[in-house]
Amino acid sequence: MSLFFDHQSMLDTGADVLASLGDDVQLDQNIKPPSSLDVSSGQPAVVLLTGATGFIGAHLLDELLRRTFARVYCLVRAGNDREAVGRLGEALNRFHLSPPPENRVIPIAGDLSLPRLGLGHGFFNRLASEVDAIYGIMPQTNAGQSYSTLRPVILNGTKELLRLACKGRIQLYHHISCMSVFGLPLFSDRDTWTEDDVLDGLPDKGNGFALGKWAAERLVRQAQDRGLPCNIYRLGSVSGHSRSGAANTRDLEAALIRASLKLGRFPNPENRFNPAPVDYICAAVFQLSQHFRARGKTYHMLPPKPAPTDALPTAAGEEGFPLSIVSPEEWSDTPGAALGREPIYPDWQSFGRIRLASSTVKPPRAFSRNTREALSGKPAFPQMDAAYYSRMLRYYRQCGFVEDVDTPCAS
Ligand SMILES: NC(=O)c1ccc[n+]([C@@H]2O[C@H](COP(=O)([O-])OP(=O)(O)OC[C@H]3O[C@@H](n4cnc5c(N)ncnc54)[C@H](OP(=O)(O)O)[C@@H]3O)[C@@H](O)[C@H]2O)c1
Repeated sequence: MSLFFDHQSMLDTGADVLASLGDDVQLDQNIKPPSSLDVSSGQPAVVLLTGATGFIGAHLLDELLRRTFARVYCLVRAGNDREAVGRLGEALNRFHLSPPPENRVIPIAGDLSLPRLGLGHGFFNRLASEVDAIYGIMPQTNAGQSYSTLRPVILNGTKELLRLACKGRIQLYHHISCMSVFGLPLFSDRDTWTEDDVLDGLPDKGNGFALGKWAAERLVRQAQDRGLPCNIYRLGSVSGHSRSGAANTRDLEAALIRASLKLGRFPNPENRFNPAPVDYICAAVFQLSQHFRARGKTYHMLPPKPAPTDALPTAAGEEGFPLSIVSPEEWSDTPGAALGREPIYPDWQSFGRIRLASSTVKPPRAFSRNTREALSGKPAFPQMDAAYYSRMLRYYRQCGFVEDVDTPCAS
């Protein structure tokens, strides 16, 4: 099960913020599709993608370019479109992906936190009339960020994308979410979830990350109830590319691996470390997004089988980072001070609070029947063996992420 459930032990948001949650998740009445729907069943010709400078978005862009003939508008945070082109190129390069063909990829400067995504009226309307599929990827956040920090981006961004989707041509809205929605205390009495279960109720507490994801899903569901075709893809833990090893260095999994290399110890993952390679996830999201009968559903993007427990420690040993496997309790009891300050989670004491020990938070079981039935065994799930993790560790080393952990600190 995903590490994301462990976010539950992180920062709780204040009562004042939670008081506004009910209002935050109300979708403006004027965001609704026209009454006559003309949903196309073919491949999209023009796509809008957000988050393309990030880990998931860059790989999803690559997938869209390889699997369709679509032109792809990429909303990129930048001062102007020229800068947006540069930022997107750098991101693809960082993840060892091919440079985008100019005639197919159109980076546009914008911001999810702004009205109309920071675009002028005219261009917003033009996009609405051209685009026939939207893939909405919101920022990844670290576990300590509060709901009030995330709200302007995640909620405003989702609302504005839905506004665009409802405005012109009938479009499909694909919303990337996270399994962490189940980590809200409101749902703690449930120990199993299917993709069709409705996340009813209004949370009265929770960490910012899970609240933001839950709130965005609520908005998407309302748009769906008003007639907009929407899919929700809940991602679990996403690891490096199966061939290039290119991985995210800003997420919880990276933090766990980096800390473990530094300590020379890796917590016995059992059921708690269950990542899927990013290329598999993006190929599966794309495939589901093309499945006409699979529209309007929620998908749990979980790996069909867990990575072998010893694959990462074996790879680490081969790459010059000897690792022993310890119990999750022993690992999470390691004093944060031994790790020093870290870029991902500056406060290592709070990282220690991410309870890897199943004794504190028992994650619910999530089923993925919709996903399995719609994918029917494709794409093939890559081998997550020691060779796979070696490629990921070499990528970490190459981009400087683990350069200072060659000599593990004393335990
Ligand atoms: N990676 C995982 O393991 C994982 C697992 C489960 C769910 N997810 C979900 O997948 C999504 C993407 O994750 P990721 O790992 O790809 O994150 P990421 O690498 O941090 O990328 C986030 C993207 O969002 C963009 N962004 C941030 N603020 C923005 C704003 N105000 N306006 C426009 N764009 C903005 C970033 O642009 P900049 O380059 O300008 O920062 C970047 O392109 C997240 O919602 C995350 O919760 C990821």
